[in-house]
Amino acid sequence: MADGLTKSAARNIFFGGSLFFFLLFAALTAHSHWYMKTTSTNEETLTDSVKHGKEVWEEHSCINCHSLIGEGAYFAPELGNVWHRYGGRENPEAARAGLKAWMNAQPLNVPGRRQMPQFNLSEEELDALVDFFQWTDSIDTQDWPPTKAG
Ligand code: HEC
Repeated sequence: MADGLTKSAARNIFFGGSLFFFLLFAALTAHSHWYMKTTSTNEETLTDSVKHGKEVWEEHSCINCHSLIGEGAYFAPELGNVWHRYGGRENPEAARAGLKAWMNAQPLNVPGRRQMPQFNLSEEELDALVDFFQWTDSIDTQDWPPTKAG
């Protein structure tokens, strides 16, 4: 028997290892998709307005300052749970009014405070954004973020 590893054994370990981890990666990806579709989100509540809210969110690049379920920029507050923060789970009407009023009132022009621009959104766009926030809050994130403040 040859000392150490032969060339063909090294090759087999390389290809075998690559194949094994590729298959593992594919299986975990499939599992994530399956979990998202069946457990963490509810497709029935995914209305046209929620979809439109996401489009408004993308058109205005809100993610350049905000994060949504942890992804995005860290200049401004996390918005994945902003519906919860505004009390939407207990009082949806008040949360909707509060969120719309907040977006309409920007910028606050308080010295030394980070500012959010005014986007001049229509009532319909504001409602769609709030629907989008409400839907995002309904995603089962396994209790992330750990605090309501995000
Ligand atoms: C230039 C950066 C910037 C962009 C872009 C931006 N925001 Fe903001 N936003 C902020 C900042 C900063 C705050 C916090 C301001 C404060 O506390 O006075 C904020 C706060 C908020 C809040 C209140 C959060 C809370 O917990 O009270 C909401 C809702 C919000 N933004 C929605 C949006 C939406 C929707 C968009 C896109 C249409 C957007 N923001 C784009 C900077 C931004």
